[in-house]
Amino acid sequence: MMLSRRGMMLCLLTLAAAPAGARAQGRVEVWRDPGCGCCGGWIAHLREGGFAVTDNKVRDLEQARRMLGMPDDLRSCHVARLDGYLIEGHVPGAALRRLLAERPPRLRGIAVPGMPVGSPGMEVPGQADEVYDVIAFGEGTQRWPFMRFHGLRPV
Ligand code: CU
Ligand code: CU
Repeated sequence: MMLSRRGMMLCLLTLAAAPAGARAQGRVEVWRDPGCGCCGGWIAHLREGGFAVTDNKVRDLEQARRMLGMPDDLRSCHVARLDGYLIEGHVPGAALRRLLAERPPRLRGIAVPGMPVGSPGMEVPGQADEVYDVIAFGEGTQRWPFMRFHGLRPV
């Protein structure tokens, strides 16, 4: 196919306009309480990492959890879905990229339970970052470690 000179210019301009980190990596649909600020910090982290985000602000997060089929024991402040996988809590973008690259069998989703200090969206000035686990879950009560982080750094 021959591109016109003008068409070619438009393509180049479009490429130049996309920031390096913002290659399409999928859309994360998030459900969160409108009053919770740390969820907004997590969403900003995902967008900086090149994910598209749908931000659903809901009054009843438990209802969203049930609708998605999210297990109760991995609770944090927001739930999400990415390409058919369930996500809960302040999961770093690096773990989401690994999930999409590896797509482990029998895995339903990954979660960071609670709200560890130093996880994306949970930065607290003057407080040391925690070491925390990203936990993978399958059917029923199947759980296994997926990744470990210290702040944003995989360890
Ligand atoms: Cu939170
Ligand atoms: Cu929050």
